[in-house]
Amino acid sequence: MILLFGANGQLGQEMVRASAARKMPLVALSHAEADIADAAAVRDAIARHKPALVVNAAAYTKVDLAETELEAARRGNETGPALLGEACAAANTPLVHISTDYVFDGTKPTAYAETDPVSPASSYGRSKAAGEYALRAAAPRHVILRTSWVYGEFGHNFLKTILRLAATRDELRVVADQRGCPTSTADLARAILGIAPRLAAGEEVWGTYHFAGHGVTTFHGFASRIVAAQAPLTGRNPRVTAITSAEFPTPATRPANSELDCSLFARTFGFGGRPWTEETDAITAVLAAEARKTPHVA
Ligand SMILES: NC(=O)c1ccc[n+]([C@@H]2O[C@H](COP(=O)([O-])OP(=O)(O)OC[C@H]3O[C@@H](n4cnc5c(N)ncnc54)[C@H](OP(=O)(O)O)[C@@H]3O)[C@@H](O)[C@H]2O)c1
Repeated sequence: MILLFGANGQLGQEMVRASAARKMPLVALSHAEADIADAAAVRDAIARHKPALVVNAAAYTKVDLAETELEAARRGNETGPALLGEACAAANTPLVHISTDYVFDGTKPTAYAETDPVSPASSYGRSKAAGEYALRAAAPRHVILRTSWVYGEFGHNFLKTILRLAATRDELRVVADQRGCPTSTADLARAILGIAPRLAAGEEVWGTYHFAGHGVTTFHGFASRIVAAQAPLTGRNPRVTAITSAEFPTPATRPANSELDCSLFARTFGFGGRPWTEETDAITAVLAAEARKTPHVA
């Protein structure tokens, strides 16, 4: 059985759906049910459920607010993974933890490999990098999956924001100087559940891997794809204008390049991410159809 922390997040909800579809037993605990920064709560959950594998989908993910909410970011992204690592090590339970492309500063001109040194440019990225270090130190039997630009049917994400804006605006201005790999929660859940049996069986594949959707784009390219996919379904076709990051200042600095080289994951586990374009089209179609049924929540 898999024990998942962070049940109500984008990835957490997708993991619940995907594990049910595959008939893989999974118990999912929400933030209210188990705070990963509470040592006793983490220990008790693992002792009660005796999982074959723990998956941490919980995190503090408010990238801009993290610049000022330093303690909250540290709690969710460093203390939590440290405590999960300690509890998993004590119970001899393997652990999958999700990390981020934002541990890199984005100055590398080509794709980031796992061997590249981390150099986060934001408080969120620093807290996630600290979580990686803490987890590695605490739990030898771990897999850290770094992923990027996560979106899906659940929770809050870029795709949903673009759909909402496309419904009412004639022009969307989107940054075109940040590139990365959009990753659907469905694809990420497929990756985690795909490797779970091997990790639960104790296969010696521990370490840090990059896993993201196949292909690279900019936020402008991502938004353009979403708008094009929803247009035939909604009749809305706003212009998508390319702007620079300087024209859209945010409290947190984002990497200009966060393309992840995912070849180590593919070599080790025998599969990779799906094309982000196909995933984006499919999820946009589902969400646009839902919005048509209930226009008041579009
Ligand atoms: N979103 C992205 O674009 C992106 C990109 C790269 C990597 N990632 C990583 O992917 C993972 C999943 O992200 P996501 O997009 O699914 O995040 P999300 O939708 O924000 O969900 C995170 C969940 O974690 C919960 N949580 C926060 N602090 C917690 C704590 N101390 N104990 C237990 N639960 C806690 C949150 O609950 P509350 O809402 O109640 O606080 C929320 O339900 C994270 O590790 C994230 O860093 C995300």
